[in-house]
Amino acid sequence: MSFVNIIKFKTLGDERGQLVSLESNGNIPFEIKRTYYIYDTSPGVPRGYHAHFTLRQTAVCLKGSCVVLMDNGIEKVEVTLDSPTKGLMIEPMQWHEMYDFTNDCILMVLASDNYDELDYIRDYDDFVGAVKNDDT
Ligand code: TYD
Repeated sequence: MSFVNIIKFKTLGDERGQLVSLESNGNIPFEIKRTYYIYDTSPGVPRGYHAHFTLRQTAVCLKGSCVVLMDNGIEKVEVTLDSPTKGLMIEPMQWHEMYDFTNDCILMVLASDNYDELDYIRDYDDFVGAVKNDDT
């Protein structure tokens, strides 16, 4: 079992099509304070390359697909997001990199707090150092 948590959302589908509902403190395990989405990505250009001190996020690929490299400072796991029924949890102190976006990819992210640059760790060595300090 890896440290990565992927939530499988229940679909409320019928003959008209599919529907997924996301609720704070329901199938999303935190209070959603912010939503953002990434689309029209430049081919071959990766994103992310950071971790957060406190932010909790759930990434959902609404259309197309992309790959997220998850790294807890000890283990690295590649996750393919290719379904609007899958939510990847990005917890505090989890370094993440996103790449291999398909042209049509729409990656939506639900976040537990407002945008705060001070919550970012953007230097990989600082991240690894912070993980080690957490252990001691
Ligand atoms: P950035 O963190 O570089 O995106 P990614 O994690 O996908 O690599 O964010 C791009 C820009 O948008 C940067 O200037 C910060 C800003 N931003 C906001 O203002 N609010 C937000 O909610 C997010 C996620 C980013």
